[in-house]
Amino acid sequence: MEKKDILSVGELARRSGVAISAIHFYESKGLIHSHRNSGNQRRFSRGMLRILAYIKVAQRLGFSLEEIKAAFRDLPQDRSPSPEDWQKMSRDWEQALTDRIDLLLRMKEQLNLCIGCGCLSLYQCPLRNPNDELGKQGSGPHLL
Ligand code: FES
Repeated sequence: MEKKDILSVGELARRSGVAISAIHFYESKGLIHSHRNSGNQRRFSRGMLRILAYIKVAQRLGFSLEEIKAAFRDLPQDRSPSPEDWQKMSRDWEQALTDRIDLLLRMKEQLNLCIGCGCLSLYQCPLRNPNDELGKQGSGPHLL
């Protein structure tokens, strides 16, 4: 790797627009990686700029750090991700967003019904118990 492809944490922060503290946090969560130079200083490959950009975009789209980390796990570990690898990840995120939007639209419709009702019943209200969690435990009382 050429010297220009190796960045200090300060250079990475400046070029990515991400605070040094956030870079350290992402590293502690396993989202980005560094290595130590001969002076025991943390160094990052230039590829981490793209990773940080994806993290910031994914966060703005509402993905959790765990979801982002899971998506990165599907990227090749033995080489830099290709444009096709990034496109596949983008398609996966697009599907996840579509699913989330569909769920929110269904909840919005239900909210309109619930505004007129107001019971917020654990047994009857889909907003209160969207997946009928108690129903999965079988019929009959579960809270007595
Ligand atoms: S508030 Fe009554 S069904 Fe949701």
